[in-house]
Amino acid sequence: MTDYAEFARLEREGWGDADIAGSYGARFAAATAQAAPSLAAAVTAAPGRAVLDLCCGPGPVSAVLVEQGARVTGLDFSAAMLAQARTRVPGATFVEGDAQAMPFADASFDAATCGFGLMHIPDQDRALAELRRVLRPGAPFAFTVWAPAGASPGFEVIAGALAKGDPSVALPPAPDFHRFADPATAEALLTAAGFHDVSLTPLDVRMPLARPGEFFEIMREGAVRIGMLIEAQPPAARPAVEAAFETGVRDWALANGVDPSAPFALPLPAVMVLARA
Ligand SMILES: C[S@@+](CC[C@H](N)C(=O)[O-])C[C@H]1O[C@@H](n2cnc3c(N)ncnc32)[C@H](O)[C@@H]1O
Repeated sequence: MTDYAEFARLEREGWGDADIAGSYGARFAAATAQAAPSLAAAVTAAPGRAVLDLCCGPGPVSAVLVEQGARVTGLDFSAAMLAQARTRVPGATFVEGDAQAMPFADASFDAATCGFGLMHIPDQDRALAELRRVLRPGAPFAFTVWAPAGASPGFEVIAGALAKGDPSVALPPAPDFHRFADPATAEALLTAAGFHDVSLTPLDVRMPLARPGEFFEIMREGAVRIGMLIEAQPPAARPAVEAAFETGVRDWALANGVDPSAPFALPLPAVMVLARA
């Protein structure tokens, strides 16, 4: 297997950073929370059901699961994220731990969710094996990933803007960010991990923006992998990247009849994957 050790270190350090976690909770999660009702419905969150919310972050999915009466346990390795989740969702239990080695007994959950978390895990096969271990047989697991550039105006802007940066700036080796959005790949990876009944559903998610330039700020301050690619730009290259983010968002708005001088929402479509343990 490719060595993802450096990627693992950067992910853990990034999400553990109180500023990044705080910005994510205050701004980025306004988009991810839009997927939470679909995730809760897919796992039929209901009174008494024990649901694991993997990579819970500040708790947008846990909040909806609790509203529907489920007994919710959120797992995340970032203490800074968990502090937010405990304040926002007092009705859930939050546990600090790694998705690749979960601190739970076998067959202890009736269902699991993971909102935009799986792509951040270096050893996704191991995380899926852990999930199967802690889920009861037949339990549903629903998770979301971002649709890739080409199917996503938001990721088109990100890809176009980063392409204006220094070509030597690259991430350490990491699993492909969008791979679970591809039906054949999702089916193959989940089936290999012992899951069955795999299905994919597109979700309409949008990033609320007060102005075009806000997209760059949200990505720089509250997104670990994209934030890394922005922060690593040499000073001479950075203004071009920032300008391309803003121009890209403005151009999308103008091409789609949206007034960029008033608050609007940039499409950042997601894919929900559902499977059974
Ligand atoms: C993009 S955020 C998603 C948060 C939330 N689920 C949502 O929908 O907004 C990813 C979260 O996964 C957590 N995370 C990443 N890798 C992890 C791992 N190996 N084990 C546990 N949590 C992890 C991060 O700390 C972060 O809170």
